[in-house]
Amino acid sequence: MGLAPMAVIPNLQNKGIGSSLIKSGIQQCIDEGYGAVVVLGHQDYYPKFGFVPSVKYGIKSEYDVPDDVFMVLELKENALKGKQGTIKYHEAFGSV
Ligand SMILES: CC(C)(COP(=O)(O)OP(=O)(O)OC[C@H]1O[C@@H](n2cnc3c(N)ncnc32)[C@H](O)[C@@H]1OP(=O)(O)O)[C@@H](O)C(=O)NCCC(=O)NCCS
Repeated sequence: MGLAPMAVIPNLQNKGIGSSLIKSGIQQCIDEGYGAVVVLGHQDYYPKFGFVPSVKYGIKSEYDVPDDVFMVLELKENALKGKQGTIKYHEAFGSV
């Protein structure tokens, strides 16, 4: 699953809204039985929720972005074991 898009209106940032959205999104993915979730975003923000650079698993983004901004979180133990390749976002995200 891809966690996106993530945005909080500037005058409401730093009040915990982003964290709540991320935790809620992760929980929803767990509830729906997904094994892992990816995110494309700030490398200093998402690790606090457990995300690690996807290259750790041999997984890369379809987009030409630095390795440390495409991250993944395993939701089930070993869900990514033995899995490698390129993550492609649903067509609903369009092209960037
Ligand atoms: C990233 C974003 C969603 C965070 O939302 P938020 O409601 O401000 O987040 P929270 O209040 O839950 O968390 C704030 C914390 O995140 C940190 N933070 C915010 N933006 C950050 C960034 N770009 N890099 C690193 N840390 C960041 C703040 O310093 C703060 O840290 P603290 O808890 O240690 O004080 C919001 O800043 C945003 O909409 N940014 C513009 C759009 C964007 O860049 N989206 C991400 C694309 S993936």
